[in-house]
Amino acid sequence: MPFSPNFTWGAATSSHQIEGNTHADGRGESIWDDYCLRTGRTKEGQSGDVACDHYRRYKEDVSIMKEIGLKAYRFSVAWPRVLPEGRGKVSEAGLGFYDRLVDELLGAGIEPWLTLFHWDYPLPLYREGGWLNPNSPGWFEDYTRVVVDRLSDRVTHWMTLNEPQCSIGLGMMAGIHAPGETLPAGQVLVAAHNTLLAHGLAVQVIRSRAKRPPVIGVAPTGEVGIPATLSKEDVEAARENYWHFAPDSLFNMAWWTDPMMLGRYPEQGLKAFGSAAPKFSDADMRTIHQPLDFLGLNIYHGKHVRRGPSGTADVVPFSAGDPRTHIQWPVSPGALYWGPRFAHERYGADLVITENGMANPDWVTLAGTVNDPQRIDYLTRYIRELRRAMDDGVPVKGYFAWSLMDNFEWSEGYRYRFGLVHVDYATQKRTLKDSARWYGDLIRSNGASLG
Ligand code: FCB
Repeated sequence: MPFSPNFTWGAATSSHQIEGNTHADGRGESIWDDYCLRTGRTKEGQSGDVACDHYRRYKEDVSIMKEIGLKAYRFSVAWPRVLPEGRGKVSEAGLGFYDRLVDELLGAGIEPWLTLFHWDYPLPLYREGGWLNPNSPGWFEDYTRVVVDRLSDRVTHWMTLNEPQCSIGLGMMAGIHAPGETLPAGQVLVAAHNTLLAHGLAVQVIRSRAKRPPVIGVAPTGEVGIPATLSKEDVEAARENYWHFAPDSLFNMAWWTDPMMLGRYPEQGLKAFGSAAPKFSDADMRTIHQPLDFLGLNIYHGKHVRRGPSGTADVVPFSAGDPRTHIQWPVSPGALYWGPRFAHERYGADLVITENGMANPDWVTLAGTVNDPQRIDYLTRYIRELRRAMDDGVPVKGYFAWSLMDNFEWSEGYRYRFGLVHVDYATQKRTLKDSARWYGDLIRSNGASLG
């Protein structure tokens, strides 16, 4: 029986994607507020200003979670809501919101899993250099202290960073997420290093100050290498590809998770980045390398890899017309077998799937239902692969579907719907999709209804 009785079944969201009310109750500005105002940055200039209005509708949303039967809910705290200037004065109203949300969740029997940073970086701190500023790890440490002191009597599960691959890689190198920079590698890697230090400091704050014994992790991502065949050579090529570096991108796992989990930057990465690699001390690496209770993995898709005739790890392209989700990510369930397996092999850690799901062009039918058989099929295929990894001994402790509800998909605006729950943005009406009911059945059967 791969799913233990206390396996965590949940769904995830993030603050900027659902809360809206970006100016309510003295919330400060984030880099995403600013980015969305710039012409041409997000789809049709859409922003998170209203989003799902979750800030005001959280009670209804928690009751929906209860109706589905979620055991856990992963959400993020908006740093600028808690500290409008990013540091210094604490907003009681902002902190109070998360206080009430946590109480509401616990009242509904749903375990809160709190992410400290899911990309909505305070604009005033960005104007002081953001993650490039050597004080930035300390700013994050201070922010963490405020949240921990307020919520750790009730919150047990903590994640420091969500996908720094995107906040730094897409935001500061590729320029397609806030803050929209295309900085040279040397600077991006300084920002990355400060982000890693922030992670390490935050873990220490949680560990030392939490009022109940904390369970701490982080939620990185990366594109999983899936062996094209089960030959030893292809498995090795896929593994190589998963941990691989391209010096023009930070969208890889190892640059981030090796320092956190092993206390060192990967040799191959240091070589690939060459003179752009950051200067760091042993003390830095000790700060970053904090014991974690789990490694989170956000996994949506992978690519097939085989050992080429000349010994290289070659990506085998998907065929024309192969299944893709609405956002054009390939349906590749093997990612939920090989990703956890390779990650466990490298780090030996307990794992939690902190995000997995798909975008589908869902709408409410004339009958008032939302039928999303593709999502049910996708989730069935992926979670079966996860179960197979667990059958093969990979310790996976939980699974979070992305997302609880349709929401603001960053630069893509509102056109891609990832939710188990449909949101009509004009009326804010929520409608459970078929997949939400299916997921509830899966949770109630603790995975048995997967077949
Ligand atoms: C992940 C993000 C999450 C959401 C999903 C679709 O990369 O962490 O906020 O955008 O993708």
